[in-house]
Amino acid sequence: MRILTYPDAVLRAKAEPIQNIDEAIQKLVDNMCKTMYSSMGIGLAANQVGELKRILIYDVTQTKAGPNPSVLINPEIILTEGDIVQEEACLSVIDFSADVRRKERIKVRGVDKDGNPLDIEAEGLLARCLQHEIDHLNGVLYIDHISTLKRALYNKRLKKIMKRAASSKGKKM
Ligand code: NI
Repeated sequence: MRILTYPDAVLRAKAEPIQNIDEAIQKLVDNMCKTMYSSMGIGLAANQVGELKRILIYDVTQTKAGPNPSVLINPEIILTEGDIVQEEACLSVIDFSADVRRKERIKVRGVDKDGNPLDIEAEGLLARCLQHEIDHLNGVLYIDHISTLKRALYNKRLKKIMKRAASSKGKKM
């Protein structure tokens, strides 16, 4: 699947809750996992592949044991504690990273890929990843949390990057 990138409007839309986890949803989850691993990501929200459904996947374990994706459907943050600033990047925001303030510890409620209720208590990278992906489901990008000046500078740089990409389009190399 192709990952949409900023400033694609789909990334700004709010994803809809899932009523019924059917075969199509299972297939979407499988495809999202493949896409996340092939892009070397640690998290992916359905919006990023153009599906406005409240699904996120993640794998922050980064072990050599192989892929171990977790799936969270209809997630909601029900508790937060503390604040922490750390660097973040996103598969949908090319060639950029920035410090972002997030909640240090969170509790998230949702259901797993079989529809079973799931409560996750998270801190560290997992807490950050879950907040980042839940933001995606609400049409929010991490660059919305940085200063207006930093975002303006990125927008300027992105325009140059896209212009460069466009000028080589259709040329055989
Ligand atoms: Ni992201």
